Amino acid sequence: MRTNEFVRKDVIVPGLEKEYRILHITDSHVVMCNEKEGEYVIEGDGYWNGTKLIDFHNLRHNHFRVEGVPSSELFEKMCDELAANPDCADVIVFTGDILDFFSQSAFDFIKKNIDKLKTPYMFVIGNHDMIFSGKPESEMKKIFTALTGENPDLQKMKLGELTLIGVYNGPYHYPEKSLNDLVNALEGEDNVVLFQHVPLSTKEFHKYNADRNQPDWSIGDQGVCNGDGWKTVFDIVGADDTPVKAIICGDCHVEHESKLGNVPQYTSPLNANYPPYLYVIHS
Ligand SMILES: [Fe+2]
Repeated sequence: MRTNEFVRKDVIVPGLEKEYRILHITDSHVVMCNEKEGEYVIEGDGYWNGTKLIDFHNLRHNHFRVEGVPSSELFEKMCDELAANPDCADVIVFTGDILDFFSQSAFDFIKKNIDKLKTPYMFVIGNHDMIFSGKPESEMKKIFTALTGENPDLQKMKLGELTLIGVYNGPYHYPEKSLNDLVNALEGEDNVVLFQHVPLSTKEFHKYNADRNQPDWSIGDQGVCNGDGWKTVFDIVGADDTPVKAIICGDCHVEHESKLGNVPQYTSPLNANYPPYLYVIHS
């Protein structure tokens, strides 16, 4: 990855006076555990229940290698390059699955590399980051506050005329706290770029998945519609006066663009295989 290899996406937000560059990194799927961590036997997950973590590691290590290079090395190299070029973007936003599964050594590894960055960043947790830890979610989220800041469910950052909001929807729905935090965070805002791991359902995205014989893991009536939280988010995004001007997500490992009402939604592909996407937001 070289910083001039970023894939540029232009996002139009009418009325903006300046231009803002947000570098999006999603689904790096760093696969890592040490010998002791590898002895852990996965429990509580239907399919992998009873599997030794090292066996899962070995499968995933091979799956995410690119031309023989492990995803962890690719991540480290990318962070070194970004650290050497801090002006490559105004903000870097991570939207989950930076870890393929949780181990303390993998977490320490990504934290060490993210700590090298001199560009401000926001970190949103995905569905993979916390799996197979053997610890309750509340404990895991405490660990992740080292990257998310004090609230692992919602981050908010001002970027000139924009407000960047990152919300946790990793479990393919909006947990009550995420949803409440989101509603509160949107209060009084008018130029919000919303970041989340899992995209919302759109007709185009559903068709895109159907055409490829892939399941639709987006949140909403055409994808995964657990709970009712998604209805609130659809209402907010679909309102004529919505403060949300764009949604940027990961999870599906492909590049896609569609619309919810007037609001564009972008998904960036697997960072293990592709360079980060640079969203340039202007009028
Ligand atoms: Fe992923």
